Amino acid sequence: MQPSTRIRTLTGTEDDGWGLFIRARSMIAAGEEVLELTIGEHDIRTDPRILEAIFRSARDGHTGYAMVPGIPKLREAVAKRLRDRTGVPTTPDNILITPGGQAALFASHHAACDQGDRALFIDPYYATYPGTIRAVGAEAVPVQARPEDGFQPRQDVLMEAAQGARSLLINTPNNPTGVVYTPDTIAGIAEVAEAQDLWLISDEVYDTQVWDGHHISPRALPGMAERTLVVGSLSKSHAMTGSRLGWVAGPAEVIDRLITLATHTTYGVPGYIQDAGLYALSLGAEFEAEIGAPFRRRRDILNALLAGQQVIRAVPAQGAMYAMLDIRATGLTGEGFANALLDAEKIAVMPGESFGDAAAGHIRVALTLPDDAFAEAASRLIRFATARAATPAAE
Ligand SMILES: Cc1ncc(COP(=O)(O)O)c(C=O)c1O
Repeated sequence: MQPSTRIRTLTGTEDDGWGLFIRARSMIAAGEEVLELTIGEHDIRTDPRILEAIFRSARDGHTGYAMVPGIPKLREAVAKRLRDRTGVPTTPDNILITPGGQAALFASHHAACDQGDRALFIDPYYATYPGTIRAVGAEAVPVQARPEDGFQPRQDVLMEAAQGARSLLINTPNNPTGVVYTPDTIAGIAEVAEAQDLWLISDEVYDTQVWDGHHISPRALPGMAERTLVVGSLSKSHAMTGSRLGWVAGPAEVIDRLITLATHTTYGVPGYIQDAGLYALSLGAEFEAEIGAPFRRRRDILNALLAGQQVIRAVPAQGAMYAMLDIRATGLTGEGFANALLDAEKIAVMPGESFGDAAAGHIRVALTLPDDAFAEAASRLIRFATARAATPAAE
């Protein structure tokens, strides 16, 4: 008996990029010491006070079905956060609480796209984007943001790709590039969305982790709130990846429809997780800055180490938890470099190619090891690249 075509073709033909990650994990399982700079997972665990909030809520009996749209206090807290951060009038009716940003991405595309619609996303992209779009029956269409443009999407390229499309998914601060979109980029994107009558799906899960520039939510631009769905999450901002707590923010009529979708899919988020999320948000911007600070420090460590060499070109890491490095001067592909580095130095990084064609010849370094271990891994990586560039024939 065959499963559906949709489920069989969800991951398409693109390399899902996890080959190297799986190889690194098997080496670790076999007892080898590997320095992992692969996935976007903090090197700290969820704060004990947030864990205590989970236990307290569960002990108080919040272990039954929770309200599907989200508990009112959390919807209000998220609405307030968006009002405070963007100035856009936002009420609980504009918010659906979801099991993480991933479920919010899925729900947003469900709201935006009909079967067969063209749904654009920017390449390089977060690994799940094309599959999430296909999961709602839409056609996943990458639009390249190129290294020579600093991985900022170009308005003319977007405008052309957007003819006849239904939605555009963007992500700033960006995974995998670490780039923060400029005010001009965001304004250009908004113009394209208006001109081509697109839903704009804005993935802002890294909005608290900005080191250079400012995070601008396109929902705050004139006329954009009615066509923008914002994806948010506490995974990155509060080191709560495993708690699966996120949201969609958008027009109340759309959120109303998405509550129906949630009723028929997730049936909401556990009440004790929502209570803990409410507590986590009450810790305020200071706590969010504390969670983000190590990534900024490691970005600075990496920049200092890169300053003395010519082989690796760094894409300016302006936010999120990643740095994208151009290793083309070594004569290797991103995949070739990542595999050779794993074999020679037992350091695991992600090949740029696993995030789309635009990041070919790059590697993504997650800033997710304690400072000393990170500095050690980065120095060895640079030494390795320098040696490879000096002996390209060895490949
Ligand atoms: C750009 C981006 N969007 C969404 C997500 C999903 O986050 P969540 O844990 O909230 O589902 C991630 C996770 O790495 C991400 O990098």
